[in-house]
Amino acid sequence: MPITPQELIQNLGDLPPLPQVAAQVLRLVADPDSTTDDLQKVISTDQALTSQILKIANSAMFGMMREVRTVTQAIMTLGFSTIKSVVIAASAKNLYSRGSVGLQERILWEHALVTALACRGYARSLRFPRGEEAFVGGLLHDIGKSVMGIKFPERYGALVRQAYNERLDSRTLELDTFGFDHCMVGEALLKSWNLAESLEAAVRWHHDPGHAPEGHQVLAAIVALGNQIPPQEAGAQGYMVSQDQSEAEALAILRLDETAYGEHRQTVFELLDRDKGMIADL
Ligand SMILES: [Fe+2]
Ligand SMILES: [Fe+2]
Repeated sequence: MPITPQELIQNLGDLPPLPQVAAQVLRLVADPDSTTDDLQKVISTDQALTSQILKIANSAMFGMMREVRTVTQAIMTLGFSTIKSVVIAASAKNLYSRGSVGLQERILWEHALVTALACRGYARSLRFPRGEEAFVGGLLHDIGKSVMGIKFPERYGALVRQAYNERLDSRTLELDTFGFDHCMVGEALLKSWNLAESLEAAVRWHHDPGHAPEGHQVLAAIVALGNQIPPQEAGAQGYMVSQDQSEAEALAILRLDETAYGEHRQTVFELLDRDKGMIADL
């Protein structure tokens, strides 16, 4: 029997919090009165975050022409909205690396990164104006898996290994074992982090975008397509692409026929090829 959202929260207990500095950064970025200086001050209180931001800012992902050495420089060159993505990326990486399911953490993180880049590529190719949001949606889409790994290390670890070895759909196994899946857990986490509703919907419905509330279907569809990019395309480690209806639903939402889809996919592959270099060292 499907579980209600309330039961889900009860089952999960406390969720991993968004790191304090990241929460402050998100607040500042949303505030039209905040300045580069405010942002720089907050970020600089966290050494690990600072070095991660500089690393990400200097990665091929953002195509910098010259080296970025300070947080101020990074903010000025990347802009507020991209800095927000970078901060969320750094927080997501920590969470993706925290599960206790063995080698899966690295694979999950690389899959998240490839999906994020692919989503940004699709946004560009489809002229969807909120490219940064697509990027963050891709980055966080499977974060529920990490939360389940953190909350139920033994049971979830066994499940992930079984799905991997027997090539089964992990979502079906999740529902059978727990009564909820990583999409629901991801949505609960994003709610507790107070991120945008559109992101919650994209994470909740990345395997069935057709069920997303109407205003959020396009973003959910983009994340669904990004999720279908084979990791090898970006030189990342293998992760089984899920076999579900998500691709067909996404194409219907975006009104794409096979030919148009093929062209957009090609553009995404080309963009990924350019971003390849950074996957290994993030
Ligand atoms: Fe998923
Ligand atoms: Fe995924």
